[in-house]
Amino acid sequence: MPEKVFIGVAWPYANGPLHLGHIAGCYLPADIFARYHRLRGNRVLMVSGSDQHGTPITIRAEQEGITPQQVVDKYHAQFLRNWEQLGITFDLYTTTGTANHRQVVHEIFLRLRERGYIYPATQQQPYCPTDRRFLPDRYVEGTCPSCGYERARGDQCERCGKPLNPQDLIGMRCRLCGEPPQIRETRHYFLRLSAFQDYLLAWVRTKEQVWRPNVYNFTLRFLEGGLQDRAITRDLEWGVPVPVDDPEFASKRIYVWFEAVIGYLSASKEWAMRQGEPEAWRDYWQDPACRHYYFIGKDNIPFHTVIWPAMLMGYGEWTPKGGGSYNLPYDVPANEFLNLERQKFSTSQNWAVWVPDYLERYPPDPLRYCLSANMPETADADFSWREFVRRNNDELVATYGNLVHRVLTLTVRHCEGKVPRPGSFTPEDIALQQEARRTLERVGTALGLCRFREALGYAMALAQEANRYVDQTAPWRLVREAPQRGSAVLWTALLVVSALKTCFAPFLPFSSQRLHRMLGLEGAVEQAGWTVQEPTPGQPLGPPEPLFAKLEERVVEEEVQRLLAQRRSS
Ligand code: MF3
Ligand code: ZN
Repeated sequence: MPEKVFIGVAWPYANGPLHLGHIAGCYLPADIFARYHRLRGNRVLMVSGSDQHGTPITIRAEQEGITPQQVVDKYHAQFLRNWEQLGITFDLYTTTGTANHRQVVHEIFLRLRERGYIYPATQQQPYCPTDRRFLPDRYVEGTCPSCGYERARGDQCERCGKPLNPQDLIGMRCRLCGEPPQIRETRHYFLRLSAFQDYLLAWVRTKEQVWRPNVYNFTLRFLEGGLQDRAITRDLEWGVPVPVDDPEFASKRIYVWFEAVIGYLSASKEWAMRQGEPEAWRDYWQDPACRHYYFIGKDNIPFHTVIWPAMLMGYGEWTPKGGGSYNLPYDVPANEFLNLERQKFSTSQNWAVWVPDYLERYPPDPLRYCLSANMPETADADFSWREFVRRNNDELVATYGNLVHRVLTLTVRHCEGKVPRPGSFTPEDIALQQEARRTLERVGTALGLCRFREALGYAMALAQEANRYVDQTAPWRLVREAPQRGSAVLWTALLVVSALKTCFAPFLPFSSQRLHRMLGLEGAVEQAGWTVQEPTPGQPLGPPEPLFAKLEERVVEEEVQRLLAQRRSS
């Protein structure tokens, strides 16, 4: 029976280009997971979209002297191109700017309000008398009380990552004019998170064996600290309007975080409409057998393990005894951070490898490989150009690529371009064939548990072992001196290459597709399934070409210099 899998991926702010930290943090693991499940024949719905509201967008627009809409249009289009080029295969990548999204947000807001989970109250907010406006979130900056960084923002310190309230900042100032703001009263709607405390605790405790320890422990501590009701509207004119008949709220908008998480549901509905089956989203959201996975970076954990689940509980009348009509997250495999050359990625300091720049110079698979082998799954990880060149040259070119090239060129040259008929096998041949089958299983098990590095390690270990086998059996000699033995060895090596094509397909989709062709197979590699396809004797092979290209050593120095120059000019 095919399973159903819903995959939600964090919605990136459309206020600047993506960098490698974003890709390693959530887009790549989500895509690997989706491709694996599709190969297994499972039904996958993977959605996300550009987060186009909130102060990250309005501030960028003010800096560039253009409208928020111009900012988001530019980056949304760029993101769509980048997904295509990197092979990140969303079933739908939309934006929070659609009429459908606004409608779903309003429906959820109104139902929660009807049930008393959303209520209005008065709050203290920084107000700038010079600019004559309230200053939400990123419109104030000051010194971080926790690490002393002098340009911490009103919602979070970019240096130490601590979430902040504007009032926490030392020497708070208006980001527009630099003057210290006043504190004034303003009315907002609040989400009654406190009402969900016990339900959430009961639910989260069932996740101890499922969630990564950092996700589980962080969430538990967050809940045990006691949930405070949170303001879910802002004094801002860019965003989803507040659906109430009250002139005071005409100049306010729904808080970007409250509406962005609703994107998971609204995007599913948009997907269903585009399929021409407007009710199809229910298969994923209302069938309890469908598991929901959320791929995010660690700074987004509480929004996905506490706030969004609370919203779904309130909207779907969930109780600890069941009866909820919307699926809650099954797993939230949040990644830690990726650093760049041992320093934090920083947009403001321009310390980043930007995705469009990378793609101008190098192909996607080596990046997918390097970020997977180094994925920050359980601890922060580091991307360095030295490591990138080493992994490309030693692992992709010299190990996997070399195996494929040797085996395919020998077969094409000595077996009339066709898969040979193997005859009888030695115990050594059989052992390697079994290892290939076991490897595919191990890779699948690890992928199903979101252990990406481990899964990739099994595949590369098989490639190494197959290289040793080819070295020891020396098929280039056998094909002349003992042709029957040569055929058995080449057939066995082709079986391993075929297994590797599948093992690597979720990670290296472009290379696997080319290899699929070189093995003489038609159609898309995804269609072939999660199984070791046995080479059929007599099957003509396609022309062999190298799967990967070696990089010059000087790339390391060039790229590091480029990074330093980019930072100097920021
Ligand atoms: N835009 C947010 C960020 O970049 C993430 C939003 S994830 C969502 O940090 F689920 F809320 F959409
Ligand atoms: Zn000001």
